Amino acid sequence: MSNEIKIHPEIIYPDVAINLYKPNNPVEVPVVENRLATLEVSPNIIRHITLDVSGTGLEGNIRSGQSIGCIPEGFTERDGKPAKVRLYSVSSPSRGEDGKPNLVSVTVKRVIEEDHDTNNLFLGLCSNYLSNLTPGDKLKVTGPSGKRFVLPENAGDFNYVFFATGTGVAPYRGMISDLLENGFENQVALIFGSPYRTDLLYYDLFRELSVRHDNFHYLTSISREGTRPDGTKPYVQYQLLDSREVLQPIVSQKNTLIYVCGLKGMELGLFQVMAREGYLDYLRIDDEIRDKPPSEWVVDDLKKRIRPSERLFVEVY
Ligand code: FAD
Ligand code: A2P
Repeated sequence: MSNEIKIHPEIIYPDVAINLYKPNNPVEVPVVENRLATLEVSPNIIRHITLDVSGTGLEGNIRSGQSIGCIPEGFTERDGKPAKVRLYSVSSPSRGEDGKPNLVSVTVKRVIEEDHDTNNLFLGLCSNYLSNLTPGDKLKVTGPSGKRFVLPENAGDFNYVFFATGTGVAPYRGMISDLLENGFENQVALIFGSPYRTDLLYYDLFRELSVRHDNFHYLTSISREGTRPDGTKPYVQYQLLDSREVLQPIVSQKNTLIYVCGLKGMELGLFQVMAREGYLDYLRIDDEIRDKPPSEWVVDDLKKRIRPSERLFVEVY
């Protein structure tokens, strides 16, 4: 690809609808589909759930990258208070699931954990409530929320590198579809990390898109089926090294935007590798830490001294 662009175009932020429905006035919508989002049966249970928002303010008003809030109606928190709203990234394209503006999807991972103190099994409240819903069931939702983690209005002016761990891939399902189905001609890369190959989310879709579109690069980082030569786990950030031939020409362009979504813990390692590779345009590093080697950065630095530049978008949870 050409190295001609020396300055990056201005990012035009879209005017997105926000908080049309709040926790004190949610809207009730029916579930129309609830299926597995993984390739095959996997220890991680992740479901693709589609809602019909016909006739509500949400219809046609949600951008991929935004989230909706879901309320596990009738349940209580551990402290006995009524269950609160939880956010889920929308995984349908901006034009709606299957191009239907009344259909909105989310990608939900069942939280199934063991309490470290008691060894008791516990199930996450909302993720399991949602995963148990069947078509016809009603769900109370809020939103949309989030206005920065979306594609720019002038999306076609940029290249994109999307980093995802686990359900962090949800917003990219919609965004990548928004781009490629609209004749996008620049470069787009998706780097997706999951524990096992059985956890690959929307694998068939991304594989098929990568076969159909030369400008879409789909890279997977499977963390528990082997290690890198130096013994490290093949986490998403190492694709900047291990797939340098694909990613370096994209990341080094001035008109490239990087999006990061998924586990909170993924930021530090990714920022360290980005800095080590010289991709400093994506980070704002305070003077007081400029001389500290990236390998010595700690999580606390991210809160105070290293922040994303306007070319880096982060949504971690
Ligand atoms: P909760 O019941 O709230 O439990 C959460 C945590 O509390 C547990 O993991 C555990 O650490 C602790 N805990 C709870 N009960 C116990 C207990 N009995 N003993 C010990 N510890 C306990 N999630 C997705 O799956 N997909 C998405 O696309 C997605 N997008 C998000 C987008 C944003 C912007 C944000 C902020 C979050 C997103 N999430 C997403 C996370 C989601 O909002 C919920 O946090 C997640 O589903 C867990 O909710 P839960 O009610 O199932 O778990
Ligand atoms: P692992 O759990 O093997 O350490 P999921 O949310 O489905 O569990 O997937 C999250 C993926 O992100 C897993 O492959 C997980 O690897 C990986 N991961 C965990 N911690 C980090 C981190 N700090 N940076 C990048 N990837 C991570």
